[in-house]
Amino acid sequence: MTGFTLWFTGLSGSGKSTIANIVGPALEARGRLVEYLDGDVVRTHLSKGLGFSKEDRDTNIERIGWVASRLTRHGAAVLVSAISPYEETRRKARGMIEEFGPFVEIFVDASVEACAERDVKGLYAKAFSGEIAEFTGVSDPYESPVDPELVLRTEDESPEESAQRVVAKLEAIGLVEAEVPA
Ligand code: ADX
Repeated sequence: MTGFTLWFTGLSGSGKSTIANIVGPALEARGRLVEYLDGDVVRTHLSKGLGFSKEDRDTNIERIGWVASRLTRHGAAVLVSAISPYEETRRKARGMIEEFGPFVEIFVDASVEACAERDVKGLYAKAFSGEIAEFTGVSDPYESPVDPELVLRTEDESPEESAQRVVAKLEAIGLVEAEVPA
């Protein structure tokens, strides 16, 4: 089975992990082996100790890209959720992964205002007050993808709708088979 990586990029709180956590089980239901590489989780293990300077973010993303490339090589469906704010670094990750299988860049697009309003982790309030520095979208850059395979506007659609669009995209490009009614 061809492995592939779905790379969810977007601001903190845009919905990356939420959508990946719906897509994953849908792929498992179709017999795929799924692995998740979530920025928040990776930073507690593989990237423990890294901060949010450009250099540290790039290191984090290159590590995730490398692991994703190995898993892709072995046929997994890899779901990466990481802000990954820099276009060039995402391109590097794409290069590593495409040696072994498709890389599907998914821009999880929500405005800073919308993410700040959700503020699930309470981090935007701290970023606006200056308690947290270098916060993506507030005091640190986010470079929107130039030519992503898919854009999900999470201010206009529910996580379930977004997840459905991801699966439909995978069917359209032949990475999963369309479900045949029994
Ligand atoms: S990345 O820039 O290196 O891709 P990653 O996705 O791993 O970021 O981690 C982002 C998560 O770290 C956010 O969802 C948030 O919970 C937390 N975080 C803490 N500080 C920051 C910050 N300064 N900028 C962005 N996210 C931060």
